[in-house]
Amino acid sequence: MKRTRFTTQSPEETQDLGRALGKKLVGGELLTVEGTLGAGKTTFIRGLALGLGIEKGVCSPTYTLVNEYHGGRLVLYHVDLYRLGGAAEVEDLGLDECLETGVVAVEWPEMGMPFWAQYRPRIGIKLEVLNETSRGITVEEVR
Ligand SMILES: Nc1ncnc2c1ncn2[C@@H]1O[C@H](COP(=O)(O)OP(=O)(O)OP(=O)(O)O)[C@@H](O)[C@H]1O
Ligand SMILES: [Mg+2]
Repeated sequence: MKRTRFTTQSPEETQDLGRALGKKLVGGELLTVEGTLGAGKTTFIRGLALGLGIEKGVCSPTYTLVNEYHGGRLVLYHVDLYRLGGAAEVEDLGLDECLETGVVAVEWPEMGMPFWAQYRPRIGIKLEVLNETSRGITVEEVR
């Protein structure tokens, strides 16, 4: 289990970290992105998209559970489970199919635990608010 911890001082730095990770993705990765309200989950995923070569701006999928972004090296499926009714609904999202064609990044994965355990390898990202402008970010590869 490989784990790395970073500290960022601005949204740009968080996005850059996402971008660096996005460049390394090969397809089929499931990324769970945890963190409290406003921690920077969407900012990080916006970086992931850039790293995949997706130019279209990533927004918060407020009314749909899954937003897909094409036009990059791989399709990015951005999932936000904040409004998910219950853990059982995760199974209906068709994430397995998504993983065949791209990568999946999940905000509020807590809503779907322990569903994620079956996905290996999984990249677990945790954002922690340190103060107004800094964030502690842990990236862990769970095999
Ligand atoms: N170091 C930092 N990294 C990321 N965001 C930061 C940082 N410092 C300040 N911010 C601010 O924190 C907010 C992060 O918003 P973002 O939408 O990415 O969070 P989120 O975790 O997706 O929130 P939500 O739970 O509402 O989905 C932005 O307003 C951003 O400007
Ligand atoms: Mg968000």
